[in-house]
Order: sequence, then C-alpha cells, then structure tokens
Amino acid sequence: MIKILGTGSYVPEKVLTNFDLEKTLDTSNEWIIKRTGIKERRIAAPEESTVSFSVNAAKKALAAAGVSAEDVDLLILTTSTADYQISSSAPIIANELGCRKIPAFDLNAVCAGFVYGFGVATGFLESGMYKNCLLIGADTYSRILNWKNRNSCILFGDGAGAVFMKKEEGASNILSYDYCSDGRGSAHIRIPAGGSKIPYHSSENIAEDDLYFQMDGKKVYEFTIKEIPACVERLLEKANISSADLDAVVFHQANIRIIDTVAKDCEIPIEKFFINIQKYGNTSSASVPLALDEAVREGKIKSGDKILMLGFGGGLSWGGIILEW
Ligand code: UT7
Repeated sequence: MIKILGTGSYVPEKVLTNFDLEKTLDTSNEWIIKRTGIKERRIAAPEESTVSFSVNAAKKALAAAGVSAEDVDLLILTTSTADYQISSSAPIIANELGCRKIPAFDLNAVCAGFVYGFGVATGFLESGMYKNCLLIGADTYSRILNWKNRNSCILFGDGAGAVFMKKEEGASNILSYDYCSDGRGSAHIRIPAGGSKIPYHSSENIAEDDLYFQMDGKKVYEFTIKEIPACVERLLEKANISSADLDAVVFHQANIRIIDTVAKDCEIPIEKFFINIQKYGNTSSASVPLALDEAVREGKIKSGDKILMLGFGGGLSWGGIILEW
C-alpha cells in the first residue's frame, strides 16, 4: 500500500487582492468573486521561483514525515513553469535539499500535473522499483501571465505543495484511478510562442500576447462541466463505492462554480470538498497538494478515510484517484 507519510506547502508572502487588480484592470472585486470565488492570490518575490517554492514545500513534507532528504529515493516535480526551458528543475531541487544522486525529473500535465504525478509515483512504488518518492507540485504563473489580460490574470496565483510517499506492506489502498486527455482542446490553454514550433528567435512578428499564457475560459469551462462529473462517476464505479462513502474531496481549485456543479451533479455534499480558492486562486500544479496539505494540517483527513483527488486543465488533460488514507 502507498502511505503518504508527510505533506507540506509553501506560498509566497505577497498578497494580491481583487481590489489591487481593480486599480490596473477593467475588472471588479464583485465580478471576480461571483464568477470564480477568488478573493486574493499570492505572488512570488523577485528572488523566488518554482525551484525555491518547491524546496520550501518539500522541506515541510520531509519534516512532517520525520525523514531527511538523504532518505528520498525518487523525486518528481510536476510543473508547467519550470525555472528553465532546459534543464529540468527536479535535479536542482534534489541538490538544494541535499538528496543523494537519485532519479529526479519534471512532469508537465499543466493543472492536472500533481494528480498525474501521483499516478506515476504510485506505479514506481507499487512495482518495487523505488521505496519512496518525494512528489512536488509547484507553479509560478505570475511570471507567464499577461497582466493586461483580465480574462486570465485574475485567476492564478503562485505556490507549491509536496508529499512524501512510501510503499508499505499491505493490500493496495488505491481504490481507483482514471486519467484522460483530449488534444483537440490543446489550443484552449497554451503559450503559443517559445516552444519548438514558434521559438522566440524565429520571427519578429510574434504578437506580444503570444509570449504569455492564454486561455479560452469559456471553452475550458464547458469541457470541465461535461468531462469532470463523468470522470468522478467512473472513479466511484471503479472503486465500487458511492459518493456517500467519500470522506473528503481534494479538487483542483480552478473555479468555485466548477466545484459547486460537480458537487451537485455527483451528489457529493459540498462540505466534503476542501476549498481554499478564495485565498490562493488557481495555483495550477500546486493546487491539489496545497489543498491536501492544508486539509491534513487542519485535521480534516484521518487514517482510513476515502479521499478523492482530481485535477484538470491544459492538454486538455484530466485525471483523478480515490485512495484510502
Ligand atoms: O486550471 C485550468 C482549468 N481552468 C478552468 O477550469 C477555467 C474555466 N473557466 C472559467 O472558470 C470561466 O470561464 C472564467 C472565470 C475564466 C470566466 O467566467 P465566465 O462566466 O465564463 O465569463 P465569460 O468569459 O463568459 O465573460 C463574461 C463577461 C464578458 O463580457 P461580455 O462579453 O458579456 O460583455 C467578459 O468580457 O465578463 C467579461 N469579463 C470580465 N469582466 C470583469 C471577463 N473577464 C473579466 C474580468 N472582469 N476579469
């Protein structure tokens, strides 16, 4: 069985409220709260980045698990805002933490990253390849947002979350998993330029906005409302449990209206959802582990609980896991 022995998280100190955004954008606190549930988000200080967030969150997860960095066998960072295009950030994090020469790599499934990473880590551990894994979800969207584009910049914040997972003796406690993608919706969430298709140096005609994160919010919203309840239903069916059997739901914090819709459609009482979107906005890969860490530290998750974790976003990619804690 896979045990999560410790969780940790980190958010930068700087708070950016909806009222702050009103000063620079044609938006309002009222619109943002009503359409998204977000009141404020955290923004990286100039010297901070995805690596420093990850190191801070990871140290807390290791301390909570009562292990040292030298005990870590495998490190996975899920992010879509690594410190550099090349090389990956996970080895830098492993080095800064003081890990041995362990396997360490980045995984990019955008906002579904942490939940994908959880599945990958589980596979490594269940197969016996490695005994434990430090899994981190971290993102610094403040560095890729176009702060003049009110459609997207009001939604996101920076942060990181981490878990230390270990394989222990006993029957599997992963009750179900369900992963999907649909590349037809790839253009709904992307940074058009800067990759191998349109490199920064390829043309003088790259539109300024194409260097920044772009999202067709309406199309993504329609996709989530259709696909995510169906994903939850499949997870419950595969686990052979009903929604009443779930003790807690740790869901991607993208929009409170999405959470409300899934709760209603899947007949899961809203009280079972851990919600912190009002404080941090959408922190992409950090969203699920940040919520998980807060739920654990607030005593909302206990041994034996059935937990649903679910993420969705760019790709389009989505996925979830039901596990017994
Ligand atoms: O993490 C990855 C997954 N991401 C998501 O799941 C996000 C999914 N999408 C959403 O959450 C929602 O679509 C948004 C929150 C992004 C937008 O909410 P919406 O209810 O779909 O608004 P909309 O895009 O339909 O815009 C409604 C109106 C428009 O004005 P008109 O055309 O009706 O006059 C927008 O121009 O609201 C306007 N608007 C704004 N007004 C004030 C758009 N952004 C803003 C803003 N402030 N920040």
